[in-house]
Amino acid sequence: MKYGHFSKDGREFIVTHPNTPKPWFNYLFNDIYHCLISQTGGGFSYLRDPKYYRLHRWDHLSSDRPGRYLYIKDASAKKHSVWTLNWQPSREKLDAWECRHSFGCTTISASNNGIKGSITYFVAKQAPAEIWLVSLTNATRAKKTLQVYPFVELIAGDVALETHYRNILCLYNDAVFDKEHQAIIAFKQPFKSWHKPGYAFFASSLKVESYECRREAFVGRYGELDNPDGVQAKKLAGSGCRGEDMVAVLQSTVTLQPGETKQFVVVSGITENKNEIPSLVKRFRSVDLAKKELSEIKAYWKRHLEQVWIETPDPKMNLMVNLWGKYQLYAITHWRGTSHYHGAEGGQGYRDTCQDVEGLLSSDLEAARAKLERLIFYQYESGHAVSGFSEVEGTWENQGVAGVIKKADVAVWLPYSVVAYVKETGDTEFLKKVIPFHDKGEATVYEHILRSVRYIYSARGQHGLPLIGHADWNDAYDHVGNKGKGESIWLGMALVRACKHVKELAEFLGDTAVAHEMQEKSDELTAIINEVGWDGSWYLAAFNDDGRRIGSQENKEGKVPLNSQTWAILSGVVPPDRLQRLLDKIDHYLDTPYGPALFLPSYTTFNPGIGRVSSFAPGTKENAAVFSHACAFKVVADCTIKRADQAYDTFSKLLPISEAKQDHEKYKVEPYVWAEYVVGPGSADRFGEGSFTWNTGTTPWMYVAATEWILGARRDFQGLLIDPCIPKTWKEAKIRRPFRGAIYEITIKNPGGVSSGVARLSVDGVEQRGNLIQPHGDGKTHRVEVVLGKAGSNHSSHRAKRRMGKKSISTLS
Ligand code: NOJ
Repeated sequence: MKYGHFSKDGREFIVTHPNTPKPWFNYLFNDIYHCLISQTGGGFSYLRDPKYYRLHRWDHLSSDRPGRYLYIKDASAKKHSVWTLNWQPSREKLDAWECRHSFGCTTISASNNGIKGSITYFVAKQAPAEIWLVSLTNATRAKKTLQVYPFVELIAGDVALETHYRNILCLYNDAVFDKEHQAIIAFKQPFKSWHKPGYAFFASSLKVESYECRREAFVGRYGELDNPDGVQAKKLAGSGCRGEDMVAVLQSTVTLQPGETKQFVVVSGITENKNEIPSLVKRFRSVDLAKKELSEIKAYWKRHLEQVWIETPDPKMNLMVNLWGKYQLYAITHWRGTSHYHGAEGGQGYRDTCQDVEGLLSSDLEAARAKLERLIFYQYESGHAVSGFSEVEGTWENQGVAGVIKKADVAVWLPYSVVAYVKETGDTEFLKKVIPFHDKGEATVYEHILRSVRYIYSARGQHGLPLIGHADWNDAYDHVGNKGKGESIWLGMALVRACKHVKELAEFLGDTAVAHEMQEKSDELTAIINEVGWDGSWYLAAFNDDGRRIGSQENKEGKVPLNSQTWAILSGVVPPDRLQRLLDKIDHYLDTPYGPALFLPSYTTFNPGIGRVSSFAPGTKENAAVFSHACAFKVVADCTIKRADQAYDTFSKLLPISEAKQDHEKYKVEPYVWAEYVVGPGSADRFGEGSFTWNTGTTPWMYVAATEWILGARRDFQGLLIDPCIPKTWKEAKIRRPFRGAIYEITIKNPGGVSSGVARLSVDGVEQRGNLIQPHGDGKTHRVEVVLGKAGSNHSSHRAKRRMGKKSISTLS
């Protein structure tokens, strides 16, 4: 692989060339602070909300500048060569360079003119601070006197306002060098009565000889970061900054005898509480304390990533599910609001966060529960929910973030997460917990989810299908229903799925009235969908405000929509006689070497009756890209109807390290995290190029697809359901999973080369009837052996019995 490779144990991705086709990022974070860092130190950090408390300026992907740099000037050389360990911003050829992205830290190492150095960046365990642990070695025979300049460019405030009104916002800038604490402290003077500034701090463990806070003074007039005047000069000017663009730069001397190595620390961050800065700086500006913190962070991630562990014959799948895909899941569940592709947005999307909770349940219950309670609080008394929320600035609706509100589907995702939580924990008491609505009143959690279903059921259009409003799952269908008439077939299917989730819960609780209500609603909607939503060979996507069919054979573009086909399976609305026809479309019309496209053909011109989806460049984003999140829906749908080989085929194609993505020049993006999409066949030149990595709903779904569906260790009300759906070529596979206070080590044996069906199942060597394991809850590890084969040949397979009774296709997914 041209630009890098995984370390032997897969726990590091080693970038071997700095000029990767796109910046390759790592996400370092704790519960209050998020640091997005590229292979050269580019990117930005923020406290609690990426828009409101942005610490660093970072221009754009195309330059990946500015960043967290360490300038080095060899003051002992005749000609003072200036370089950075980062390679950026001067991008000069170095004698050696590499970057190691890993869980919780990123290390950039380089050498030049006999000086070897490395910077390990990491975020403190709990504090709003990032630490750079720097090591410099003199590999020459002569004594070296180096001037070192740790540098960052600061925003210390609202990046959205800064982006729009930089010349105004910089007038609020206020940066000083605090002599007592030897630290630069910078913030924006509040300019609204309710404003709470974020206080940035920048310090090092070295003796500070000079400093600079004014950008222009550092780079020079019309200067640039690749060759700043400040570093060329003997000393930095030592100026504070008031009302101009601000940077934080410190100058210190490091003298190295031949062969000598010295280490120092840079500590930086942003806090709402100015008074805590001295203690924060004091706590982390010691090399030993920094090293201690780093080793505890590494130990934390080793432990945390090993909760759920799979072993399959596919090392690439193991790598993503066990390590990188899981780390990505933790990262985006913590920080759903932004990525290095998302500009100045803040907060987190309601729909996305609901799905993240499901992904997190099996490996971080506490975090999942906390998120779930926030989501329930952000529901309105009507049953609808906010489109998104920031714990700093409140809801997107309040912020008036125009393009992202009035999403019709958001409330449909809450019942899925609550039902998944009860299945994971058995904690039906949670359903009795009273949680306020975001606008007025309060209700039990159970009532909250009933309101979600009843709200969407009540908001239907002339065909009896849910109104689509400004968007259903597909945000870019933003003109389909904004006159209040357009209807979504996909949302109809999602509502049927929600009815079935709540029905199953009601049956478990013995609430026959609700079970009956949900069955009635589900049957009615299923009938309507099959009557008006079937286009003859596949299901439509929507009807727009003018009643036009979208996703129909009558359309020249946007003809066959993937989601309506996969969700027809996930919701069980597709009758047996229609299933093969929609599967044919998925397998033979939509599929590509990267997975199935979101729909085909792509739109080529703006269609005011559909929206921005038709304006994106053909094949990009929602305009018929291979949209990984939607492909993940397909993997689960395939498993629900036991299409194991097709499920695995799509899973494999989505892997960032799949066969088709080996050419970095073509795929371009990080080969160690899920990408939101790969450019689709609608773009001949860019077909196969990845984009929008890290922050994607693919992450929770692919995790659930692998652990709950392909490996089939699935949470259920009564216990842990063992229902693998593996490629018939796999002879054996394993999954270790915590469940309700015990650990289950499950070995799946497949002597007959089948794909599913549990012939025999034993727990701790004792054969048991059926494939549902009653929870032990004893804190012990239990060995489960599953032999695949004709289901029920061990006399009662839990699901098989239930399925035989049902008229429609799929089980509850
Ligand atoms: C990305 C958004 O985060 C997600 O919520 C949405 O469903 C997809 N785009 C499709 O529009």
